[in-house]
Amino acid sequence: MQATACAHSNIALIKYWGNRDHALRLPANPSLSMNLGGLFTRTTVRFRDDLTADQAVVDDQLLHGAALARVSAHLDYARRLAGCTLRAEVISHNNFPAGAGIASSASAFAALSLAAATALGLQLSERELSTYARLGSGSAARSVPNGFVVWHAGSDHASSYAESIAPADHWLLVDLVAIISAAHKAVGSTEGHRLAESSPFQAARVATAPARLAECVQAVLSRDFERLARLVELDSDMMHAVMQTSTPPLLYWLPPTLAVMQRVRALRAEGVGVCYTIDAGANVHCLCLPSAVARVRAELLAIEGVGAVREASTGGGAWLESVQR
Ligand code: PMV
Repeated sequence: MQATACAHSNIALIKYWGNRDHALRLPANPSLSMNLGGLFTRTTVRFRDDLTADQAVVDDQLLHGAALARVSAHLDYARRLAGCTLRAEVISHNNFPAGAGIASSASAFAALSLAAATALGLQLSERELSTYARLGSGSAARSVPNGFVVWHAGSDHASSYAESIAPADHWLLVDLVAIISAAHKAVGSTEGHRLAESSPFQAARVATAPARLAECVQAVLSRDFERLARLVELDSDMMHAVMQTSTPPLLYWLPPTLAVMQRVRALRAEGVGVCYTIDAGANVHCLCLPSAVARVRAELLAIEGVGAVREASTGGGAWLESVQR
């Protein structure tokens, strides 16, 4: 009973920040993302009758404590559905640095969900798989479907799921990730979501998110980069305004983060097709039209404090690599 599955990371164009229900990870607002082709997690899950506890190895490190408990709790959901009590061995690899503003938890829990459900012989629909992945990490719900993906906030477990609004080949966009810090972030997103409500700006952000999302969906469907760029930057800035004004405040930016934001704005004013968006970390995702990639990459590498640039383009949904039953 073994399966290997892979899932891409994703970058939110309209962000998820804050939960209505923390245990179920029901988000405060709907969100929209693009999968990141080339940045992925590959996970093998093997249920074994000789284990007395789950084991998990991520990027060659054995997990312990809270990190292992989170994986184990996630496996419990699939075990319950399948009526199985076997413990599992989980082996997972990311092809990008974890915990640094490239969402490793999104690809990790999407791949884990698909591998675990398949190893146990569960026949889950894409929607059910997305709700399952959401329980591990909210944004993981969006790494299950293909391409450009909306996560409906929903009102309960079954109604909070993600679905594709356009496949990856609808629009080739390139994400140049300016790597500013590969260090593990001090406050992870699970804790950050709990702080969102303490910001006086969160209510305004949440109230206006559905309108931004609807307009951003239109921008994606009509491949209108100028409109997309304006909304993506506004939405990222609004999330960071909430983060920076919560109690305690979260400031993920470092000086080079701001330098990249200003450079991206200046380039767009010159007519270069690029905009920025930032998750819970210092790295800056610079979304580009293909024609802008060479110029933007050179500009990013010239900024002091940008150590490297990772490249990804619009990617597909989670996929199975192998099954042994
Ligand atoms: O899925 P989580 O709990 O890691 O939250 C993701 C939060 C952001 O990356 C900051 C925004 C988003 O929508 O991906």
